[in-house]
Amino acid sequence: MERLPNLSVFATVIGLAKAAIKFAAHIQLQGNAMNWKNTTDRYGSPSIGMHWLMFFLLTGAYVCINLADVFPKGSQLRGNLKTWHYLLGLCVWALVVIRLGIRFLSGPPPGIEPQISLWQRRLAGVMHVALYVFMIAMPLLGWLALSAKGLPIEIFGLQLPALIGPDKALAESIGDIHETIGAAGYYLIGMHAAAALFHHYVICDNTLVRMLPLGR
Ligand code: HEM
Ligand code: HEM
Repeated sequence: MERLPNLSVFATVIGLAKAAIKFAAHIQLQGNAMNWKNTTDRYGSPSIGMHWLMFFLLTGAYVCINLADVFPKGSQLRGNLKTWHYLLGLCVWALVVIRLGIRFLSGPPPGIEPQISLWQRRLAGVMHVALYVFMIAMPLLGWLALSAKGLPIEIFGLQLPALIGPDKALAESIGDIHETIGAAGYYLIGMHAAAALFHHYVICDNTLVRMLPLGR
């Protein structure tokens, strides 16, 4: 019985990924044939589903940790919001592995029309790598920071193993790195989203539409 909550957390992660992919596929079906892989002008449904699911998970992780500060230290709500932050962050970590697999199985990304210059393609590529590094590094740093604090890491019934032994100074350093990269994440994600909107509304190409389930 002890293990039931653990299983339900993992089942939730897989369920979320499946639901997002199905949802993207369902919406895509309304205007286009469903694509499991990238086509010449659109990302495949699994890539689109994972992109937007992870957008919501990351937004949730940021909202929870910022909202936690609003409530007094030691309050139940503050503690719960922090636990949700850990859980959503760990979901990002679990799903990024599946997402990378999907990326490699989906074939070359759809082309942008009208074509963009080589330096813009390279810059977008560097940005995507940075976003993947962010999604892998942040949860890991958070988990390491909690481990180094030496407290039991209990997430709604899921007991996480400590990755390293207790070390107060190390816990503070890793925590600082986690918070600094977390703050940099606002700019990274903000620039990425602004570039997509700039392409859509100013350059008027299909950069954003390729990643939208409705494809409008
Ligand atoms: C992509 C996922 C994640 C992002 C974007 C993220 C982002 C952040 C940010 C921005 C803060 C600083 C908040 C502030 O300045 O007050 C923070 C704090 C923190 N995060 Fe994360 N985080 C993620 C995942 C995780 C995970 C998976 C864990 C642990 C399992 C974790 C543990 C922590 C801890 C312990 C703090 C310090 C806050 C405290 O409890 O006092 N984070 N995180
Ligand atoms: C409002 C927010 C967002 C918008 C409008 C947006 C838009 C887009 C668009 C249009 C693309 C396709 C770009 C291309 O093919 O060159 C894309 C790709 C990508 N986006 Fe976002 N995005 C947003 C948020 C995020 C967030 C929060 C992350 C993760 C931290 C992220 C990670 C990625 C990655 C890694 C790619 C590369 C394609 C892939 O592997 O899935 N995006 N995004």
